[in-house]
Amino acid sequence: MIYPSLPPASYTETLWFDLERERLFREHWILVGMTQQLPSENCYITREVGGIPVLVQKIGGQLRAFKNACPHRLCPIQTGAFGNRKLLCPYHGWSFGQEGRLRGIPLGTGYNFSEEDKVCMDLQTYPLEAVGDFLFVNVSATPKPISWQFSDDMLLLLTELSRFLSREVSYTSWTGKYNWKLNYENIIEGEGQHVPFVHQTTLAPSFKSEGSPVPPSHLFRPDGPLGKIHLTEMPDWAHSPIPGLDDNGKPKKIDVREVSDIKRRRIAYTPRWHSERMESCDRGWYFACHIFPNVNVSITSGEWCFLEQFSPLAPDRTEYHSWAFSARLKEGVRPMPHLLWGFHHNEKRVVDEDVVVFEEVQKVLASRPDNAGYLGENERTLAAFGRYYLQCLKKGEDYA
Ligand code: FES
Ligand SMILES: [Fe+2]
Repeated sequence: MIYPSLPPASYTETLWFDLERERLFREHWILVGMTQQLPSENCYITREVGGIPVLVQKIGGQLRAFKNACPHRLCPIQTGAFGNRKLLCPYHGWSFGQEGRLRGIPLGTGYNFSEEDKVCMDLQTYPLEAVGDFLFVNVSATPKPISWQFSDDMLLLLTELSRFLSREVSYTSWTGKYNWKLNYENIIEGEGQHVPFVHQTTLAPSFKSEGSPVPPSHLFRPDGPLGKIHLTEMPDWAHSPIPGLDDNGKPKKIDVREVSDIKRRRIAYTPRWHSERMESCDRGWYFACHIFPNVNVSITSGEWCFLEQFSPLAPDRTEYHSWAFSARLKEGVRPMPHLLWGFHHNEKRVVDEDVVVFEEVQKVLASRPDNAGYLGENERTLAAFGRYYLQCLKKGEDYA
């Protein structure tokens, strides 16, 4: 059985990129960061969502999302990727209050604005949802509830998972010369088929599942908080439902909640000196959560959590974001930033191995091949992603 891949133009052409921005990134809930990045008053992060500059800031103890553009003459209110600074425009010093309301205009009389004029001079706000520590923003003019996009299982999982994450986080971002979908497709491919080839010495050894059976952690025990959620345990993927196909194998309209999924597989586990210092959640398992459209969370042996996001900058440019956490440290254990950085550094080595491939594939896609390849049965999650993507962009089967 061959599943179709996406048309090559969707990875290389500005037309497709513009459609994606408008119909996908501006219409769905998009991850913008983690609460760990905003621990105190006036901490902020800035991101782009569908090409719109977004600012998330803690004000009055609440997290709020604004358009990062001053209503006066459109200067960004915050210019760093993250930091701690009041809601004050750096250009002419207009300041804003808790809900983005215009609070003060220095030398205000010269502008000669009436109270009525000032009504339209508040910061534009966007809906923000914190699912545990995961922060999502929706920039749509008519946002749908987050439960439209993510299943109850997914929302429960992110909430419960957040209880196991350290409050310390290591975060970084960089730019790659490839389309963001290559990165997401690489993550959701059924069995991690590329791992033994691309990550021969880095990731592949830890994917071996030898050793004695590991009992489920209390998180996944049948009576545990996540005991009843639907997850696919690899390599049993072959018995899992096929997203986007009816019982007769015919394509059907895809529900967006079907294109995010949760997978788990056994891996080798060797306790390390730091293991006993952490409240590990799932030893002996590798656990991955693919969050449509562009996020992956992976947890290795319940000790390390790696969150990554692939944000489009241009058809052939991706801004890669990554966050590294450990499991929560046991009572009285002091933070171990060197361990966190070491883990993040190792993950970066693995990601770099993937990036080499993505950049090469991007070059081939730019040569305008007839198609972008053939997908097998074990790549059906990838095919389902492609089909929802086309459905969402309102592109027909003929890819006109
Ligand atoms: S642009 Fe912000 S105060 Fe002028
Ligand atoms: Fe990889």
